Amino acid sequence: MSGVDLHLGAIGDGGKGRSLEAALREAVRSGRLVAGTRLPGTRGLAADLGLSRGTVVAAYTQLVAEGWLVGVPGSGTRVADVPFGVGHGESTTAVSTAPTPPSPPDVDLRPGRPDLSSFPRTAWASSVRRALSAASNDALDYGDDAGLPVLRAALADYVSRTRGVAADAGSVLVTGGFMHALGLLARALGGLGVRAVATEDPGLARHRELITAAGLAAVPLTVGRDGADPGELTSRAGAALLTPAHQHPRGVVLAPDRRAAFVAWARRRDGYLIEDDYDGEFRYDQQPVGAMQALAPDRVVYAGSASKALAPGVRLGWLVVPPALRGPLLEAIAETGTSVPAIDQLALADLIARGDYDRHIRRVRLMYRRRRAELAQRLATVTPTGLDGVAAGLHALLPLASADRERELVDAAARDGIRLHGLHTAGYWHRPGPERPAALIIGYATPPPHAWRRSLDALAAVVGRVAGQTVATRNSSARDGGRSPSARPAK
Ligand SMILES: Cc1ncc(COP(=O)(O)O)c(C=O)c1O
Repeated sequence: MSGVDLHLGAIGDGGKGRSLEAALREAVRSGRLVAGTRLPGTRGLAADLGLSRGTVVAAYTQLVAEGWLVGVPGSGTRVADVPFGVGHGESTTAVSTAPTPPSPPDVDLRPGRPDLSSFPRTAWASSVRRALSAASNDALDYGDDAGLPVLRAALADYVSRTRGVAADAGSVLVTGGFMHALGLLARALGGLGVRAVATEDPGLARHRELITAAGLAAVPLTVGRDGADPGELTSRAGAALLTPAHQHPRGVVLAPDRRAAFVAWARRRDGYLIEDDYDGEFRYDQQPVGAMQALAPDRVVYAGSASKALAPGVRLGWLVVPPALRGPLLEAIAETGTSVPAIDQLALADLIARGDYDRHIRRVRLMYRRRRAELAQRLATVTPTGLDGVAAGLHALLPLASADRERELVDAAARDGIRLHGLHTAGYWHRPGPERPAALIIGYATPPPHAWRRSLDALAAVVGRVAGQTVATRNSSARDGGRSPSARPAK
């Protein structure tokens, strides 16, 4: 047997895999297995322990996914460099020979990312294998620029079932994530004579950049507690980009009367609404609010993405488009030569069809829901300020008293090895200024499970030190219009 000889104690009989997994996790966590240690091959360990090889493979796969182990191509499975293992590093008997990647900051609480270690590797690998064995040779040819029919049908079913979107396979376009989709949309709308797109303020700077890179202007729409303000639309804009289910970043939901007002504007103006439903599957306190697209499928482009549900690196997204935009969008894909890899499309279609996509979402949704509650509880011990935004998505806001305080907190966090974003520091304000509300945008989904407690501790420590010592008061008027956070800001 290659690799170290392991003493793992008794491996239980029923549920053997779980016991092996737990024993290995404990051995790494306690430092008995130090970073870089090469583990026995799965065949050898299975024979040693009287388990099936599949059980050992499953345990290794799970621990790799959780970040305790790493698979090193050509050299098997090794113990990962887990920086905060209890007693980790005390043993000096093994020397790390694994290539050491550049060390990331200890704690990553940036918004916009799921827990990457939860990616359903085994299910995805099975879907790739199954999809490839079943695919015709034709499926591997230059395909339909709209996406493979099998995936478009699976997505149409998925978005109508889970988000109430009016869709069929003919109205779906497969994209390489929402950023790709937005670039295509800006190009297509520009071709139809649109000169400006209204965008939420605050909103993602990257969205504004993609719009302006296509030669269009991005004009601001103030986001208040009921979402973006349709009253600020002017005839200059020919489209509006919105995040109705969970505004990014403020976390509010677009109110029904505002949805109706945006739709009425689009009809009057002969314009379009782009509904960016980037984290619509994740609502924790009630059923998710259905998509706005169903109100006006001829005026609203619905956009979904696998970046939050699976992982951003998958680079898969989808649009459900009004008939009049389909041709211009297909032209934009052809002109830019940016269609989506067929094998990935086949794998996603299989994952959805088998129910593994839904199962994965249900599983991580429970974890994120618990984390959001723990975050709120933990911060309540160091600041009287409550979290802002509805209980949804992968991020929450902690309002702060000023832009200066926000910068101070983000800088102090960076010195402690914590990556954090703020409304000012991450460029969310379209029209920045010191009078704009300040807040941390805490991405609580990002840390892998083994780092979650430590991440909470580190965050609470820096918030308590920098912003938690005074009783909060409001820093601005209670008037709606994006100038007053709904929670009381920490000083
Ligand atoms: C507001 C918003 N929309 C969309 C996306 C998804 O973009 P993509 O599908 O290109 O990863 C993100 C990801 O961070 C986001 O924050």
